Parts: sequence; C-alpha cells; structure tokens
Amino acid sequence: MKYAIGVDIGTSGTKSVMFDETGRVMASASAEYPLWQEKNGYAEQEPADWYNASVKTIKKIIEDSGVDASDITGVGLSGQMHGLVMLDENNEVIRRSIIWCDQRTAKECEEITERVGTERLIQITANPALTGFTASKILWVRNNEPENYSRCRHILLPKDYVRFMLTGEYATEVSDASGMQLLDVPNRCWSDEVLEKLDIDRGLLGKVYESTEITGYITEEAAKVTGLKAGTPVVGGAGDNAAAAVGTGIVSDGKAFTTIGTSGVVFAHTSSVQIDPKGRVHTFCCAVPGCWHIMGVTQAAGLSLKWLRDNFCKEEMDEAEQKGISEYYIMDKKAEEIPIGSDKLIYLPYLMGERTPHLDPDIRGSFFGLSAMHTKAHFIRAVMEGVAYSLQDCNSIIKEMGTEITEMMACGGGGTSALWRSMLADLYECPVKTVSCKEGPALGVAILAFVGTGVYKTVEEACSVMIRTDKTQVPDQ
Ligand code: XUL
Repeated sequence: MKYAIGVDIGTSGTKSVMFDETGRVMASASAEYPLWQEKNGYAEQEPADWYNASVKTIKKIIEDSGVDASDITGVGLSGQMHGLVMLDENNEVIRRSIIWCDQRTAKECEEITERVGTERLIQITANPALTGFTASKILWVRNNEPENYSRCRHILLPKDYVRFMLTGEYATEVSDASGMQLLDVPNRCWSDEVLEKLDIDRGLLGKVYESTEITGYITEEAAKVTGLKAGTPVVGGAGDNAAAAVGTGIVSDGKAFTTIGTSGVVFAHTSSVQIDPKGRVHTFCCAVPGCWHIMGVTQAAGLSLKWLRDNFCKEEMDEAEQKGISEYYIMDKKAEEIPIGSDKLIYLPYLMGERTPHLDPDIRGSFFGLSAMHTKAHFIRAVMEGVAYSLQDCNSIIKEMGTEITEMMACGGGGTSALWRSMLADLYECPVKTVSCKEGPALGVAILAFVGTGVYKTVEEACSVMIRTDKTQVPDQ
C-alpha cells in the first residue's frame, strides 16, 4: 500500500492528513496560528508560523499513523492563495506576509490598471486588478516600504514558502500562480508583458509547474524535523480552492462546488478558458492539467459566523464545552427554530470588503431590519442566510456566463451544516451533495501527489477511486 500526505496551509491553521491510495484517512493533525490586523482592512501572518505548523503536523501524523516513512510516495501542498512572502538574499523573510483578505491596496490596483490597461489585464490575467491578489501587494511594498522592496530577492506564495523550506526550491504551480495577477492564465506561464509593464523582475518569481508535477524533494534538514524520508517528492499541489475541487471530485465539465470556510467560494470546472468581461468572478488555471475554473468569492463566509460566535455566543460556547460538542452545532439548532427569512432581519456579510459581485475593498457588513422581536437566534440565522445569498450572487454570475452546473458539492467547515446546505440547495435550485471525506484540500493535494508519483495515471482516475459521495440536500421550492 502507498501513502501520500496533503498539507493545507489555511488562514486559521494548518492541517496535515495522510491518506492511503484508496482515500482512507490514516492520520490527521492541525495547528493554529494568529492573524494580525493592525488596522481596519489589514491582514498579515508570519510565514514561520506556517512552516512550524506544517512541520509539527506532518511529524504528528507520521507518528500517529505508524506508517513507515519510506512508504510515503509523495507530499502535496495546498493553502490560502495570494499572500505575499518576500525573502532577502539569505532567504530570510523580510516582513510579515500580507495575506489574501488584506484590503490596503486600492491605490495600487488603480496603478496596475493604468499601467497594463483594463482590457489587456483581463485578457492576460483573466481578472481585473484586485486588492486581494499578490501583484497589488508587491506594488504596495514597493510604494510604501522601498527599503524592504530593495532587499527582496524572491517572491513566494504561502504554500510555496513551505515548499521552499521543505525542498529548497523556489517554485509554484499554475492554480496558485493564477492568483498573483502576473500569470498569463490562458497560456499557463508568467506574463512578460505584465511583468514589464509593472516593472517587476521575473527573476524574483519561482518556476511554474502543473499541479501534478514534481517540484522538488524533501531535504535532509526537512527530513530531520518532519520525520519524512529525505528525497520524498513534493508535487506542485494547488491553491486551496483548486485543491478542494480535486478533493471533492470536481474535475470535469458540469461539476461545481461551494465551500464555506473563512471565505466562501463557488467554483465551477471548465475545460476551456471562459472570462467574465465585467471581471466579477475569477478565472484561474485549475489543478487538472490543461483545464481552468471559474470562481466567485465572498470574503467573509465562515468568518461571519465565527465573528458572531466570538463576540456574542459565549453561552453557546460554554454549553458546547460542557457537552463536548461543537458550538456551531448548537448555533445551527437555534437557527433552525427561526423561520426562513429570519423575520426580516437581513445581514450583509461584507466584514472584509467584498469580491463577488461588488468588487469593493471599502464595503462593510451590516444588519438591518432589526425589530424588538428579534433574538440572538435570529442573528445566527440571518448571518447564515446573508452568506448563502452572497454565494448565490456568485452562482448566478457563473450561470450567466453560460457555464452549466449539473452537480454541486458543499465543503469547508460551513458545508458540514445541513441547514446551510439546504439554504444553498434552495437558492441554487439544484441538489447540493457532500463527500464522505471532509478533508477537501488536503485530500485534493494528496491525490495530486499520487498522480505525480505514478500511483494513478490521471487526476480523474484517482478521483474515481478515492472519492465517495455522502448526503444530498434537495431544493425545496
Ligand atoms: C481565493 C481566496 C481564498 C483564499 C483563502 O481567491 O482568496 O479562497 O485562498 O482561503
């Protein structure tokens, strides 16, 4: 039996999972780390936290599984996209990473649009200039911290920094690189035109691979701290959403998924490049070689419910602790008692600005329609409904572009809620299914590692063996 490890370097923490070649989970471990928000709209993380969490969790799952490290055929990396990691000539991190949900770069987006031109930018990078994407973060550092910029010798994405620490290679892969706004998305390579117009040295960027390709091997040093065998291959892997797509079997036309994690995403696979001329949804290369995906993003999906929990649900958290269950389960049960529409209490989920469909870094969330009859349970339900409607905004644009969706999966922490899934099924007017393995992105990149190391021939073949569907929520008109 062969085994592969998927490492998912998320925003709230890193999760490493070991799978056997049939898709069975052998062991899983996670480690959390902080998010720094020094100003309204800022969001930063410490790259060392990602690496330390990866090392700790890989080590733990190897120990817990009892699997011999020489039977681990490969490692796949996934994680939050867009974050900017800058290394100096000694490979030291120059500053904290400015991550995907940071919204400080509105001015730099204007600069990018001016330098490249609105239409040309969409033609090449398949997206308009976005505050969340890496290019505007690079320009922000250049404009605001010229000292730091002048010391920069390498630019990496979050999971690619962990790759560098594990293998010594400066590399990325097409799905994550698509979110840098420096990639020629239709042609799957760095765009010399965009780099030249933005005056960014191509030498700062890593080599771009397809997601299934081997990008490097575990070094002796990384082997010592993780328990992996030196020389174990590390494949390209994928950005969290492209990885979740593979982990839920969304690898051919007609298939789509919705994830409710910190952010919320509606993702549809496409074997041809399709770009929204209005730039309301993203088009990225996907992890299936030669294919793409269209994706709408709502910035604060699970984050909205977490925010409500942290600030107003102490009682539910205490009860959950006492009973040894999840506080979200208790919150779900309370929301279930409230009628559809939350008795007209409406929530707009724009806690971190928004991408789809408003593309506005300055927009902020709100509750309105508040009445004396409303209770905390109304607020919980209103938050879930507000997020569901925001995901429906994404879904309707993808449909408007002519992309047919015949199968919708739900994943992410929020996807485990039957109530949230039924809201989605009702709004999308199509069944919403789940998969039995809830490890979406980690499973996705473990599958890519099995393909990259020859255990399976194609991503589709591996998915047909390793992924099993579970519950289905049918729409209620
Ligand atoms: C995708 C995106 C998020 C992050 C964090 O464009 O910004 O999905 O990857 O999860």
